[in-house]
Amino acid sequence: MTAQEKIQMYHQEQLLDFVDELEPDESEALEKQIESIDFSVLDGLKTRKEDTARGKISPLKAMELDEIDKRRDEFKACGIEAIKAGKVGAVLLAGGMGTRLGSNDPKGMYRIGVNKDLYIFECLINNLTDVVKEAGEYIHLFIMTSDLNYKATTKFFKEKNYFGYPENYITFFKQEMAPTCDYNGKVFLEEPGKVSVSPNGNGGWFLSMMNTGALDVVKKNGIEWLNIFAVDNVLQRICDPVFVGATIKENKAVGSKVVRKNAPDEKVGVMCLEDGKPSIVEYYELTDELLHETDERGERVYNFGVILNYLFKVKDLEEIVKHSLPYHIVEKKIEHIDRDGNTVKPDKPNGYKFEQLVLDMIHLADSCLPFEVVREKEFAPVKNKEGVDSVESARELLVKNGVEI
Ligand code: UTP
Repeated sequence: MTAQEKIQMYHQEQLLDFVDELEPDESEALEKQIESIDFSVLDGLKTRKEDTARGKISPLKAMELDEIDKRRDEFKACGIEAIKAGKVGAVLLAGGMGTRLGSNDPKGMYRIGVNKDLYIFECLINNLTDVVKEAGEYIHLFIMTSDLNYKATTKFFKEKNYFGYPENYITFFKQEMAPTCDYNGKVFLEEPGKVSVSPNGNGGWFLSMMNTGALDVVKKNGIEWLNIFAVDNVLQRICDPVFVGATIKENKAVGSKVVRKNAPDEKVGVMCLEDGKPSIVEYYELTDELLHETDERGERVYNFGVILNYLFKVKDLEEIVKHSLPYHIVEKKIEHIDRDGNTVKPDKPNGYKFEQLVLDMIHLADSCLPFEVVREKEFAPVKNKEGVDSVESARELLVKNGVEI
C-alpha cells in the first residue's frame, strides 16, 4: 500500500501538514516511513472494551522454596548439563524507553554504583558471568534494543569492552516500533518530516529475533532454551541452573520466576490459569474473593507475582509466534509537534502508545512452572528515580547481597 493510501485508509491526513515545507529527500523519507508503519495497531482503540474481558481464572500451583531446596542438587545438575551442552541462551530485553527513570540514555547505562563505576548492564553481565564460571561454559547473550537506543547501547558496550564478556557471545538485535497518537487516534509527528514512533513493547521479542536473523544464531548454536529477562532488575539471576533444571525436569514449556507477594493487593501480575491455560492477571483484575482464596494449608492461592524472568523452549516459541499478540494501549507523555509546528513537551500523559507484552505469550504456552525465588535476593527493580522500585531501593538491596557499589 502506498503512503497516500495508508493515510486515507486510517484518516491520518495531519501527517502531511508540513510536506510542502520539506526538502525532496525529507518528503521521500517521510513517505517511506509511512509505508513501513503498521497503522493497524490503531484499530485496537475501537475494540478496547472487548479486549479486556478475561476468561475463567483458577489457581496455578507454584513450586515453592521448600520443594526447590529438597530437589536443588537434582535440578542444578540438570541445568548445568544443559548449559554445558550449549542448549541455554539468554535474552536481555533492553528496548524500553525507561521514561520513569528519567534519563535520556538507555536504562542499562545508568550508573548504579555510588563509590565506583558500576552500571546496570554491568550488574547483569556480572550475574551471568557467575553462572558461566559455575558451568565452565559461556552462554550466548542476545540483547534487544530499539531504533532509538541501538546505537547508544552498542557503543556503550564496546567502550566498556563488553564488561569482560566475550564479544562473539553477544548478539544485538532491534525490536519493532509502533506509531504513537493523541486521544482521538491521530498519529503524532515527531518532526515535520518524521512520524512519532515508539518501541512496540517487550512481547514481540521472539518475532524480532526471527526478523533480524538473531534466531539463526540460536539455531546455529543449537540453543534449545531462552531465558528472557528485564534490564532493570539488578539482582537478576540469569540462566540460573536450578531454575533451568526444574523447568526441564518438570517438562514445562515455560518456567517463570515468581516472588511471594507482600500483600494480597500488591501491584504485581500474578500467575494463574485462565480457561485452563497458564496466564498472568493484574491485581486489579482479581475480585476480592479470588484475592483472599486460600488452599488447604490456609495459604493464598494467587500469591506469586512475576518478575519478568522466563525460560522458554525454542520449539514452543516457534508455535507461539504464529499467533498474533494483542496490543495494549498505554497512556504516556509523548513529545511531538502540534499542527502549528510547535514542539510540545507534556508534563502529564497526552496520548497513547501501543505495546505487546510478554505476559500474553505465556497464555499461548501449553504449560508453565511458576518457580519461587527469594525476593530480597533476586528482585531489585530500578523503575523510578526515588521511592518504590527506585535507584535507592535497588542500591540498598545490592549492598545487602554483598555487591560492592
Ligand atoms: P517496562 O515496562 O518497565 O518499560 O519494561 P520501560 O519502557 O523500560 O520503562 P518506562 O515504563 O518507560 O519507565 C520492562 C522491560 O521490558 C523492556 C524494558 O527495556 C524492560 O527490560 N521493554 C519494554 C522492551 O524491551 N521493549 C519495549 O518496547 C518495552
